[in-house]
Amino acid sequence: MTYLGADPMSSVVQRLAELAELGKYEYGINRGLATPQERKARELFVKWATESGYQLTQDPIGNLFARRNGSDPAAAPILVGSHLDTVPTGGAYDGAYGVVAALCALEQLDSEGIATRHPIEAVAWVGEEGSRFSIGCLGSAVFARLTSLDEAYALRDESGVTLGDALASPDGGLLELPERGEQRVAAYLELHVEQGPVMEAAGVHLGVVSAITGQIRYRAVVEGTSGHAGTVPMERRSDALSAAAEIVLAMETAAKKAGGAVVTVGRLVVEPGGTNVIPARVSFSIDNRSPDVSKMEAIEAAFHATAERVTKERGVRVMLEKLDVHKPTPMNDKLRAALHRVCETMGQAAPDIPSGAGHDAMCIAKIAPAAMLFVPSIGGHSHVGQERTADADLELGVAALARAIEEVDK
Ligand code: GLV
Ligand code: MN
Ligand code: MN
Repeated sequence: MTYLGADPMSSVVQRLAELAELGKYEYGINRGLATPQERKARELFVKWATESGYQLTQDPIGNLFARRNGSDPAAAPILVGSHLDTVPTGGAYDGAYGVVAALCALEQLDSEGIATRHPIEAVAWVGEEGSRFSIGCLGSAVFARLTSLDEAYALRDESGVTLGDALASPDGGLLELPERGEQRVAAYLELHVEQGPVMEAAGVHLGVVSAITGQIRYRAVVEGTSGHAGTVPMERRSDALSAAAEIVLAMETAAKKAGGAVVTVGRLVVEPGGTNVIPARVSFSIDNRSPDVSKMEAIEAAFHATAERVTKERGVRVMLEKLDVHKPTPMNDKLRAALHRVCETMGQAAPDIPSGAGHDAMCIAKIAPAAMLFVPSIGGHSHVGQERTADADLELGVAALARAIEEVDK
């Protein structure tokens, strides 16, 4: 395929454009785990990998592995991948880029006639975003045995459907593929878009991730008393939303005070939800992140202190449930050094850069050496439909990944 007068579209750009059609709507891409659109994305990955001659396997949570054999069949594989699911307003690159790039890097090694000692597997992890089933990095967490398969299958989405049922359904479920047994990993590499503005501002095209931020996800509920919006005097109310608002603002203040920490309430449901009805119940999500555990603790402490106060002052009840905890995860030093060597050989200044986003690499780092490479995001946009990375940077990342695989294989 060619554009008028332009270079032919590279396969990484073309494939990402094809994937971007799956789940596309006015605000971006919505491809939650085990939905029909997300399953179609997994099918495309399998189609491309099969056409290139790689052997496909699937594990019981739905992670997909496309294997390019190495010269030593007994060697543990080097895994290279990312995820195909998106947040409800996702972009075309978060996750999908790392999966497609892994496949393109294997194809590049083929075209160059390069044999590796280790088998190399391009991996599509499922459910990294945790947007349909509240736990993030689900596929890689199950693979690394940080979350049990039973626990994962029992997770429910907003409408009460369990992940087990969703994965058993023909619409969004598992594919017909041989089951993967092995868990060994010689090393893990993940290529991702930066999702922030730092690299673009610095004018660099590659970055080596130093560490992935710590992250805690919670669900909070505030219960008050409902009533008529016109008749209950202000001093006699137990308005659940007003109490929740105090808690949200207290966490924001704590994060600003801590510095180097971020907290986000991205979902908030008010019940019963009438214009002229005092809110009886508010449930909301909390995403608390920092590279420094004590700062996440400070935000959590602000929640508890304010919850205690509003319980007394406003007569509400407050509950907090911790859903998911990831400690800050440094990337492997030897692999980072290998990535720096690769970038240097390619003539690219590649600074160390911390990741404020979570990634499957933080789960795989628990069982194997893991490292990540970033390419810049135009305007730093991500988790929104206008997420973009320049085609030349997408292609540069693939080239760097192919060289990194070769380097790590040594
Ligand atoms: C995933 O993108 C996350 O950082 O939550
Ligand atoms: Mn994401
Ligand atoms: Mn991602």
